[in-house]
Amino acid sequence: MNYDLNRASDTGDRKQPFFASMRKMVSMISGERRKLNIAFAAIFLNAGLSLMGPYLVGYTIDNYVQAKDYHGLLVYSGILLAMYMAAFVVNYAQMRLMGGIGQRMLYTLRNSVFNKLQELPLEFFNQNKSGDLISRINNDTDKVNQFFSQSLMRFIGSLISMTGAGILLLVINPKLGLAALSPALIIWLFTKISSPWIRRKNEASLKSLGGLSAQIQESLANFKVVIAFNRRDYFRRRFEEANHDNYKKSIQAGIANTILTPVYTFASHVGQLIVLALGIWLIIQGHFTIGLLISFLAYITNFYNPLRQMAALWASFQQAMAAWDRISFLLSFENNLTQGDDPGGELSSSYIHFADVAFSYPNGKEVLHRVNFDLQRGKTYAFVGPTGGGKTTTASLIARLFDTSEGVILLDGRDIRSFTACERASKIGFILQDPLLFSGTIRDNILYGNPECAGLLDGQLEQALEDAHMADLLERFDMGLDTPIQMTGDGISLGQKQLVAFMRAILRKPELLILDEATANIDTVTEQHLEAILENLPSSTTKVIIAHRLNTIENADEIFFVNSGEIIAAGSFNEALDLLMHGNMES
Ligand SMILES: Nc1ncnc2c1ncn2[C@@H]1O[C@H](COP(=O)(O)OP(=O)(O)OP(=O)(O)O)[C@@H](O)[C@H]1O
Ligand SMILES: [Mg+2]
Repeated sequence: MNYDLNRASDTGDRKQPFFASMRKMVSMISGERRKLNIAFAAIFLNAGLSLMGPYLVGYTIDNYVQAKDYHGLLVYSGILLAMYMAAFVVNYAQMRLMGGIGQRMLYTLRNSVFNKLQELPLEFFNQNKSGDLISRINNDTDKVNQFFSQSLMRFIGSLISMTGAGILLLVINPKLGLAALSPALIIWLFTKISSPWIRRKNEASLKSLGGLSAQIQESLANFKVVIAFNRRDYFRRRFEEANHDNYKKSIQAGIANTILTPVYTFASHVGQLIVLALGIWLIIQGHFTIGLLISFLAYITNFYNPLRQMAALWASFQQAMAAWDRISFLLSFENNLTQGDDPGGELSSSYIHFADVAFSYPNGKEVLHRVNFDLQRGKTYAFVGPTGGGKTTTASLIARLFDTSEGVILLDGRDIRSFTACERASKIGFILQDPLLFSGTIRDNILYGNPECAGLLDGQLEQALEDAHMADLLERFDMGLDTPIQMTGDGISLGQKQLVAFMRAILRKPELLILDEATANIDTVTEQHLEAILENLPSSTTKVIIAHRLNTIENADEIFFVNSGEIIAAGSFNEALDLLMHGNMES
């Protein structure tokens, strides 16, 4: 399955229509409907209050200023002041409400993106760079939040003021009103034509920001290699390229985001000019009053100012939509490793059965080609073969980190796809070639993924380790179980990491234990100790050992050669050696 988030071919398809996007975005904050309603009411009130202002000013001028009625003037000034103060309070309340809603939306959105990442299969992470994913969780969600907490309400507020002002203009004098509003037509056309372009520019800018983030992540993750090979210049150059790309794309997005403003401003000036010229002409003709003209001019401002604001807000909206496209594309992915039906009945008496299994990585060549083999319960198997031969891939298929391209794998007589992830994980202990530890202590790491032992009190875990003959291994750590492990597992040696991974897997008492070069970095004395621990596992435990060192596989019941897409059973260690010496096997 293609999990590449940045694939270019179908970016067009994943753009969602305006209302569908809006509905989904709003559904993220469905729990806040009450607050949202209050905020909307506040906007209406605010717009209403500020719309009444100009009319009252015009009325006061025509009725009290020209008649020199100072008492009336004072009363109306007081009313106006009270109105403006009320508008201020309402405005403040609405800002606070929306700020909170926006932040909570950001929180929900980041959680959903992160939870989605937790659900997705390994294949997804093979195809996407973590830096780009981090950028989606951090930057893209924040763009959506900014729109919701800052722009949306101003946008709606502007829309209401604008509509109100437009209606009042038409009511006061329809002809003059129509003339004043005509430049808005140009604005509407221009916005409609330029919007898809603005959104595209913003999308490109966000994508390059993701690329930049991936670049930073990669060089930070590999800083040891960078320093050891003194290749800082290499990463610097790659970073500079990514940074420059982002700079260019951001400038373009910036231009796209501001291009509406001058057009809107120009239209507003034209509108004012029309009103002034026509209005004065009407006054000379005796069809209009000075007070009405002043009100009219104020409404023109009330119409075009929000419109101008909307130009900037529209850009913020396009930015949020571009970010939303990137997020929702990620959210639309489903784990393709779903649980299948269990047809019932035992299909094989072997513990593991590979039936005509073929496998290729996405966009890669075939690693396994129609492979058949069986593993019996309680036996020890060794998988050997050249580097890149497909050993880790085979082990990953047994643990269902990937699904086969063709053929079926049976685990305990059942299609491996019919187990839940939890069932599978409880049966299989997989010590990866490249063990990963979390920040915390050795204790946290040993208990990871082990619900049975998670509740063990102090001392009980030591006892459990003692019972499994693993207590001695703790001597390899300065502070025993409490030895701290830094982020990314730095600060302890690779051999120590392998020991932790080993204890973690053994303590879970799996039915099947897979060791992928799990002891390659451990000294021979300790390794013998580990072998003794493995010997002590319940006799029903099936073991799969992948190793290059011969002494590690000496005691295996059966050895498999993995190479060039084939897996060939070669019998016991001595038989395999014999085959190697005299047969036509390559290794
Ligand atoms: N995530 C991946 N995406 C694409 N191709 C991969 C991936 N992992 C491995 N491969 C390819 O699959 C082939 C088998 O790799 P695999 O890791 O199974 O080899 P291996 O036998 O475990 O080698 P080693 O002894 O070095 O651990 C290799 O050609 C490798 O390039
Ligand atoms: Mg490997």
